[in-house]
Amino acid sequence: MSTSARDDLIQAALDAQQRAYCPYSDFPVGAALQTASGQIFQGVNVENASFGLTNCAERVAAGAAVAAGEREFSAIAVVSRGGVSPCGACRQFLAEFNPDLPIVMVDSLDPSQVHETTLDLLLPGRFEGPA
Ligand code: THU
Repeated sequence: MSTSARDDLIQAALDAQQRAYCPYSDFPVGAALQTASGQIFQGVNVENASFGLTNCAERVAAGAAVAAGEREFSAIAVVSRGGVSPCGACRQFLAEFNPDLPIVMVDSLDPSQVHETTLDLLLPGRFEGPA
């Protein structure tokens, strides 16, 4: 992806992060998922008083894309304090649609701190369904 497309994706994730609902962890996460049509779908973590019901930003973005009819995922940017990497559940969830998805992780405290990887590196040997 071009540098300007990557910057747009990062900015969309930074914007989304402002809308995270995280009263329990106080750890806002924003995600921006680009699909093959060029659209960007945002997601934020949505927590719940019953902690285990929490949805991560990445899965919320993926759900928004699929609900809009977009299933070809091109890249995702994830923004958080420290620029953390997607959790295992999100890796599996994203791999359903693109097991080689490029992932851009950004530190919201210093958005110049950007790390890029791909889902195949983060999730080797994913579960692909019953044999
Ligand atoms: N979280 C995400 O939204 N995405 C990640 O990649 C890591 C964790 C959220 C879940 C929870 O609301 C908070 O961050 C702390 O774990």
